[in-house]
Amino acid sequence: MMSQVKKRIAVIPGDGIGPEVIREAVQLLELLRDTHGVRLELTHFDWGADKYLQEGVSLPDGALAMLSTEFDAILAGAFGDPRVKSNQHAEDILLGMRRGLDLYINLRPVRLLGAHLTPLRERAPSDIDFVVFRENTEGAYCGAGGFLKKGTIDEIATQEELNTRRGVERIITAAFEYARAHNRRKVTMADKSNVQRFGGDLWQRVFKEVAAQYSEIEANHQYVDAMAMFMVLDPAQYDVIVSNNLFGDILTDLGAALQGGLGLAASGNIHPGKVSLFEPVHGSAPPLAGKGVANPIGSILTAAMMLEYLGYEAASEAIEQAVAETVGARATTRDLGGTLSTALAGEAVRQRIQVA
Ligand code: NAD
Ligand code: IPM
Ligand code: MN
Repeated sequence: MMSQVKKRIAVIPGDGIGPEVIREAVQLLELLRDTHGVRLELTHFDWGADKYLQEGVSLPDGALAMLSTEFDAILAGAFGDPRVKSNQHAEDILLGMRRGLDLYINLRPVRLLGAHLTPLRERAPSDIDFVVFRENTEGAYCGAGGFLKKGTIDEIATQEELNTRRGVERIITAAFEYARAHNRRKVTMADKSNVQRFGGDLWQRVFKEVAAQYSEIEANHQYVDAMAMFMVLDPAQYDVIVSNNLFGDILTDLGAALQGGLGLAASGNIHPGKVSLFEPVHGSAPPLAGKGVANPIGSILTAAMMLEYLGYEAASEAIEQAVAETVGARATTRDLGGTLSTALAGEAVRQRIQVA
């Protein structure tokens, strides 16, 4: 029985192409209200570069408390603007929400929707179908470090990487739990433990301990440099990948390329049971902003992930089906070889939503 309680969604379109692609995702959610009984209450927030430049406000005071008490999920576009060289507002808003809401799972599926989309030769959709569990609250993103003798030729810059036992254990456990729940047969952990002997050692030990509790799931390990190579040469070997924050960031742009580009890739920043943040993998793409050419599918598939998280499985599947048909019919933006604008590509998906 579908819940009749309205889910409260904070929509933060952000910068660059963010507002253009989020507009299409929002229109789709509004359509699903009629076709699939999706009951959402959307509240828009204007956080981003414009607000930061005009008012000096990035993530407003009290925002995290408001999001965690008044909302069920957050749908965000992208943050980053050439006018803000420091990227301070993006760090405050995006990393602020990931850390401040303790969204420790960055779940990034990599799924090929049609053989024509991948830059790899002779790969079928069944060859490229895996999910990445990126640790999302610590690692190289912890913000610790500093300068000594800044501006001199003797300058020293340190950039720390933080790995907590608790943080490593919960992301690896989440990857195995996902594998179990979704009938995936293998979890592959990527690290650089041959060089990063302390953090890497912790990840190695915890991986073995957690894997032992999931005897039906194969656990294997690759150094991250080798994984980058094998993702290109033999992507079919992957089911579930787990890695730290920085390696997960890099590997998921590569994963996006394998499935047809950043315009298609979706992600969820998740803390199970708590308000979670859904956003496309891509950024604000300044060269495309304002031109109506950005691909909205990454945001549309992100909305599907959000609906699944909120318990609207049928609506989520309806989006995935409509996107697959749209891509199959080449009714897409130019990054996927089509000719449509952002708005028409969004409309093409909406037209293919089957009424439940
Ligand atoms: P980007 O993801 O914004 O874009 C890289 C390139 O990918 C674009 O130039 C474009 O060719 C292509 N692309 C991206 N999204 C697309 C779409 N929807 N449709 C078609 N093509 C698309 O990465 P970048 O250029 O390295 O970063 C630009 C800004 O975005 C920076 O400020 C960066 O920090 C920020 N950023 C933000 C996020 C986020 O908010 N989650 C993610 C990545 C980058
Ligand atoms: C991403 C982005 C962000 C990250 C940036 C914009 C801080 O690249 O979401 O993948 O590095 O996590
Ligand atoms: Mn990234």
